[in-house]
Amino acid sequence: MISVELTQKNFWENDVEGYIFLTTEEMMSASDLASLDKIDKEYYPKIKDILKKHKFNGKTGQLFVLTANKNGKFAQFIFVGLGKLKSSWHRELELLRRAFASAILKLKNLEIHSAVVALPDSTAFSVDSSELVKQLTINAYMADYEFIKFKSDKKEKEWSGTLFIETDQSSHSMHLLALQQGTIIGRAINDARHWADLPANILTPLELAKNAKKIADEFALEGKIFGEDKARELGMGGFLCVDAGSDQPGQFVVLEYKTDKKDAPTIALVGKGVCFDTGGVSLKPSDSMHGMKFDMSGAAAVIASMKIIAQLKPDVNVVAVAPLVENMPSGKAARQDDIITFMNGKTAEIRSTDAEGRLILADALHYAEKFYKPEVMIDIATLTGACAYALGHFYSAIMTRDKALSDSLQNLGLLTGDMVWPLPLENDDFKDAIKSDVADLSNTGSRAYLAGTVTASCFLENFVEKARWAHLDIAGTADEVPGINYLGKGATGVGVRLLVEFVMNYKKTK
Ligand code: BES
Ligand code: ZN
Ligand code: ZN
Repeated sequence: MISVELTQKNFWENDVEGYIFLTTEEMMSASDLASLDKIDKEYYPKIKDILKKHKFNGKTGQLFVLTANKNGKFAQFIFVGLGKLKSSWHRELELLRRAFASAILKLKNLEIHSAVVALPDSTAFSVDSSELVKQLTINAYMADYEFIKFKSDKKEKEWSGTLFIETDQSSHSMHLLALQQGTIIGRAINDARHWADLPANILTPLELAKNAKKIADEFALEGKIFGEDKARELGMGGFLCVDAGSDQPGQFVVLEYKTDKKDAPTIALVGKGVCFDTGGVSLKPSDSMHGMKFDMSGAAAVIASMKIIAQLKPDVNVVAVAPLVENMPSGKAARQDDIITFMNGKTAEIRSTDAEGRLILADALHYAEKFYKPEVMIDIATLTGACAYALGHFYSAIMTRDKALSDSLQNLGLLTGDMVWPLPLENDDFKDAIKSDVADLSNTGSRAYLAGTVTASCFLENFVEKARWAHLDIAGTADEVPGINYLGKGATGVGVRLLVEFVMNYKKTK
């Protein structure tokens, strides 16, 4: 495990095993990396020639390690390329996160247990220095994460190290706060990833609910967790329909954070928690079933976000709602053609039991709105395979009729790295795709309309009345994202950075 600390000592005065140099192409071509002269003089003569010979010129993705004798001790000098810093601010931030992560991965890989890095000039990234401290801290934790619980050789794989970020004396208290926030956020993101990486024979709805309860107890959140009986009492036909086929009892999790501020608005975060999605009797082919343990990533994101929110204490009320079920085929499972009635009284014809996410979210959205009257509601769900085809792995889809909400989430996505891209929900034409001859709604969009990600959001819209609402489809971004080193293998914890930043920055708008 990594731990991140601040150091106010001069870079070279830190007695550590590794010294990390984040270098741009400009710095290398002008040889104006301030440290280079010092290294050249004191530790490594002809350093510039060596870097040149080995073609290290600060390009994105480059990393070069030199072992040096620093005052009689071995030290590793780790040079990491940041590229040109000439693209957009958010792209540069993303490249910084990746460059930084590659240094962390190197520390692990070389068994370096302590290292120092100087905080880069934040103006180059259009953010303030505290934001940079926060982001780099989050990033260090994210890069360090690995799912090794079930590896027999995990003891050998385990690593512990401390990374010191050198910051200047000014704004020290702000930087310290940013470090604490980053630590809380980074660790909770890894909790979400760990839950999602756990297979469904271990992470059952009960088990995830237990984790939520633990968070509620530890951080003094109001927690309500109920099962099938209460769901029946409330008339949650959608939740019960998906839950019916499994021997594992479904759990409906509600976590509530209340601010001391008077008249504060409430934000509801709703996450899809299908601990395993076989498709139900509309059984998935086995290739498509692979990875369906990740189908609770939305629930993991909102529960982990609450763990953070409980500690960062924003001036808004926040409620997280996570319906947790397992979608299984059995003699008790829902069938195709079944008609169900949701908590809000609307009915749906089940055309495919594999379109189950929207059924549990329908009741969850209505529940959140009925009991908490949120000003804003954001749901997050691995909802449609179509989304992964449309947008791939780097952008979650956002669907909302609320332009301001969309813009705000898009901007925060660029800042945090949890990027979202809009798909259209403004055109009522799509609504016809989910009409049914026998019920109010059909749970799948008609083939004639295509756009499965959009028609799924049209379905959800039927369960939101007054709140400003946005739907995030994370089917492509929740796991197995290629090419981003700090996301590693498996679960990504997508949405946590975005939701937390949204909550922390939310201003009452009405
Ligand atoms: N959990 C899946 C969506 C999914 C697919 C997430 C691939 C991640 C990767 C969801 O429950 C589902 O099966 N959706 C169906 C909907 C269809 C039956 C209308 C789909 O996408 O095929
Ligand atoms: Zn499904
Ligand atoms: Zn699903």
